[in-house]
Amino acid sequence: MRIYMSPPDMSGNEREMLLDAFDSNWIAPLGPHVNALETEFAKAVEMDHAVALASGTSALHLALILMGVRPGDEVLTSTFTFVATANAITYVGGKPVFVDSDRTSWNMDPNLLEAELKQCANRGKLPAAVVTVDVNGQCCDYNAIEQICSKFDVPIIEDAAEALGARYHTRAAGSFGEIAAFSFNGNKIITTSGGGMLVTSNKEWADHARFLSTQARDAAVHYEHSQIGYNYRMSNLLAAVGRAQLSQLDAKVAKRRANFQYYEEQLGGIDGLEFMPEPNDFCSTRWLTAVLIDREKSDGVTWDDVRQALAAEKIESRPLWKPMHLQPVFRGCRCQLSGVSEDLFGRGLCLPSGSNLTDEDLQLITNIIKSRFGL
Ligand SMILES: Cc1ncc(COP(=O)(O)O)c(C=O)c1O
Repeated sequence: MRIYMSPPDMSGNEREMLLDAFDSNWIAPLGPHVNALETEFAKAVEMDHAVALASGTSALHLALILMGVRPGDEVLTSTFTFVATANAITYVGGKPVFVDSDRTSWNMDPNLLEAELKQCANRGKLPAAVVTVDVNGQCCDYNAIEQICSKFDVPIIEDAAEALGARYHTRAAGSFGEIAAFSFNGNKIITTSGGGMLVTSNKEWADHARFLSTQARDAAVHYEHSQIGYNYRMSNLLAAVGRAQLSQLDAKVAKRRANFQYYEEQLGGIDGLEFMPEPNDFCSTRWLTAVLIDREKSDGVTWDDVRQALAAEKIESRPLWKPMHLQPVFRGCRCQLSGVSEDLFGRGLCLPSGSNLTDEDLQLITNIIKSRFGL
């Protein structure tokens, strides 16, 4: 590939920070960069506590443990997500129940969430948690979701893996659940190659997450353990890279939004092609620029035709998430469906969206797409 969909963008002092960590010999899942990254990250997402972990998935796993989800408990989540969200629910023995998306944010539909919670209440067993997902750099409609969840007294865990830097009304992504999870996987808006962060305003939970992520070692000179723990802490080397990346977050958000704007200016007039919406009072990072292509209105051109035209020029683009309720591994899970996520999957394509895309890259990509539509 010549142009990847969302490659790492190491354009600051990542190298110097990494060498600083290396030279200090703090080459372990602890050290000064881990502590500093936690402090800086908590400030960036306007939360009190952040715990640096090995991945976004491990942050979700620990969040579900901290929320007390037990084997057999139901956990509601978005069907329109990456599999990691639903996988983490199964790690604690939970049963995922999938809720469809709305048209306006492409995230969990508050009306369907309320309908599902009412049915759960009528059956006499509420879910242990709701895991919301902020897809493609855009928050859910949290005013509605928070109100519904508090009515039924069900806690929210926010999967903000894709949404670092996004805002909803006056608040930052990551501030909506009791606990939120972020990812620093290689394709994310900032990356540590692999890594994640758990954030919360509850100090006891943050301390407990640190304890569980370091094999749950009790206070003793020897190795004493009274609980099952995990090896989930972030390496100090990676935290150094993460600090350099985090210091550029605003510029990376601005660049991804500028990519989106360019695509919209260039391609917005094409019949049958529409962009992921951004409702009023939402500020998406446009982590990925996503489009829907309606072959009825585009003279038969499909998302896959565009994907193939780009791939022929060594340019990567990808379909939107295949909903979890359609995944063989989650066959049989209950769901509240409206058809929206299946429609998004059937028509959607994510275009190259990296913060290191050049003007020439963008011009090349849009020219290829235009010519596929015969323009
Ligand atoms: C919505 C969502 N949740 C969770 C994850 C898992 O994060 P990680 O890959 O860091 O484990 C990802 C991305 O990778 C994601 O996109």
